Amino acid sequence: MKARIGIIGTGWVGTSVAFSTLLAGHARELWLHDQRGAVAEGEAMDLSDGAAFYPRCNVRAVPLAQMREADIVVLAAGRNGRPDESRLDLLRDNARIAAGFGQALAGFGGVILVVTNPVDVLTRVVRAASGLPPERVIGTGTLLDTARLRERLAVRLGVATDSVHAQVVGEHGDSSVPLWSGARVGGVALRDWPGWRVDEEAALALTVRRAAYEVIQRKGATNHAIGLVTAELIGAIVNDEHRLLPVSRVQDDGVALSLPALVGAGGALPVTAPAMDRAEREALVASSDLLDRAFTSLAG
Ligand code: 2OP
Repeated sequence: MKARIGIIGTGWVGTSVAFSTLLAGHARELWLHDQRGAVAEGEAMDLSDGAAFYPRCNVRAVPLAQMREADIVVLAAGRNGRPDESRLDLLRDNARIAAGFGQALAGFGGVILVVTNPVDVLTRVVRAASGLPPERVIGTGTLLDTARLRERLAVRLGVATDSVHAQVVGEHGDSSVPLWSGARVGGVALRDWPGWRVDEEAALALTVRRAAYEVIQRKGATNHAIGLVTAELIGAIVNDEHRLLPVSRVQDDGVALSLPALVGAGGALPVTAPAMDRAEREALVASSDLLDRAFTSLAG
């Protein structure tokens, strides 16, 4: 099924989301909006010039109000981080922007996908400002961290990425939690895989956490991987795939962070939390507390 996809913010990330979504063929209408109207128009024109190379889709720049007619709206507006900044350092600048778009989408009938950082806290901000149910305000969260972890494990072990079953939960950021205890290679527990050593886990977790900083230091932003991840999430919703994906949403305790959810046409539905060992559970609590304090700081 093809959908009407709206993207708010046509900077590095928003245009990568647009490009990945077009190539994946998820949209029959792709609407772009940016406060820099001419930029959104230029991006729509540029993408339309490539129409011969992706499944049929009508791409155009639209006023913000038209986003309410979309099936999915992606929020990619806001400033991206500098190499010396954590994602939470962007909170004050981007929370105001996110709240404004959340209010503009109050009563929206579709799904909002939050990409702008700090994505977990902004998912909570947009959920509150829009009044939508938690399952229909989804942050890309640790879906990207999970992709980074799986890729690095696949290279280290010499297996295909889709044979690596591992996930990251908690904050999409410095307090993220790789679930090593449940990681598997095919049907074998990672910790039983020949040649894998538990003492490699800390270093690999650090390379996953540092990945964005290393890219931002060299090119000024990350955009390709998050664009592909967001298009994957759009596909799971548009095609009602019922996939278990680690995405960010407001949890029962009110804090938005990533845990596996059942992603389909209805958005991100909660499922039983994955098994964790004691260290992982404690790290997740610490991540949740950090995110809760960040959200509370906005009131200050
Ligand atoms: C990333 O992890 C910066 O959150 C962005 O690529």
